[in-house]
Amino acid sequence: MNITILAIDTSCDETSAAVVCGRRVLSHVEYSQIAMHTKWGGVVPSIARRAHEERIDWVIEKAMKNAQLLITNCDAMAVTYGPGLAIALEVGIKKAKKISQSIKKPIIAVNHIEGHLYSPFVQNSKGNPKTDFKFPYIGLLVSGGHTELVLFKDHLMYEILGETRDDAAGEALDKAARMLGFGYPGGPVLERLASQVENVDQYKFPRPMIGSHNFDFSFSGLKTSFLYFTQSLSEEDRIAHIAPLASSFQEAVFATIVRKTLKAIAHTGIHRVLVGGGVAVNQRLRYLLRKMIHEQDGQVWFPPYKYLNFDNAAMIGLVGAIKAERGLYVSDVSEIDRVARLSLNDVTV
Ligand code: KG4
Ligand code: ZN
Repeated sequence: MNITILAIDTSCDETSAAVVCGRRVLSHVEYSQIAMHTKWGGVVPSIARRAHEERIDWVIEKAMKNAQLLITNCDAMAVTYGPGLAIALEVGIKKAKKISQSIKKPIIAVNHIEGHLYSPFVQNSKGNPKTDFKFPYIGLLVSGGHTELVLFKDHLMYEILGETRDDAAGEALDKAARMLGFGYPGGPVLERLASQVENVDQYKFPRPMIGSHNFDFSFSGLKTSFLYFTQSLSEEDRIAHIAPLASSFQEAVFATIVRKTLKAIAHTGIHRVLVGGGVAVNQRLRYLLRKMIHEQDGQVWFPPYKYLNFDNAAMIGLVGAIKAERGLYVSDVSEIDRVARLSLNDVTV
């Protein structure tokens, strides 16, 4: 029988709690701090921590209420212990420990990246979508903090094929938007601007490492080239060409993502691709990935609901359920600690 799990994620700028039963999400509540960070151009750790502390009880109480359950009805807790902002992760971990001790239920420690990889399989309370696991997959994670290609061999078994050597894809989009005078997050702004132009790749910015013989990414050279180019324009010219500039930058980032994913498909012979992370909400990226993967006779899955692209506790709950089925609880709750730079390769707690 599926057990009921209360999941918590406070890894970055969303305070999130969810109640899940197996793959099904009974409730999901999040408090987004985006508005607090916008004017700073990125997430400010001390502001994030305070906001998590102020909201954590509220999101948990609301998640329990929406699931129409009492906290004592939960069989276990699942909490993100990394990667993320150390002082933000700490808030969720501390809360999970406190609840676990008071209701005497075990904790499952979850790697946030595992959550994104599993996110296409999260189901609503009616059990949709029904798509079953059929390993192996290629996992593509494109978010504000991570850009990785992963060989997802079986439940909880990963091999990192490649990752970014500098900025994450979302981070690069955020920085380019900032150079054009916009606040955080920049990805949605660039997408909106790009959707207005016909010639989507007018400026043909460089695509660093696109042809390299590995699965790694690099976006910092592109960013520098974009910076120099925008600085070479008069303010009037920059404003007049803002949409093609945004679009051309987006195309350069996406071309690299699509090409490296194609390379991973060709190298592994695996044609089933899972995509997760905030950047994967972008319709242009979805179109380009779908096109390439269908040309390879492959299949691609994105998170079924928009909120699942972003940081959320529902995906953490699903990984919690998979681990619980295998008895992978933390043996000594006092031992769980935040791991800001946690990798998928690290042995989980
Ligand atoms: O997954 P996420 O919420 O946080 C991390 O785990 O990092 O991703 C946030 C990132 C930001 O960089 C944001 O600019 C980007 O996702 N993003 C988008 C879009 N919406 C959010 N990027 C491109 N197009 C979008 N529509
Ligand atoms: Zn994330």
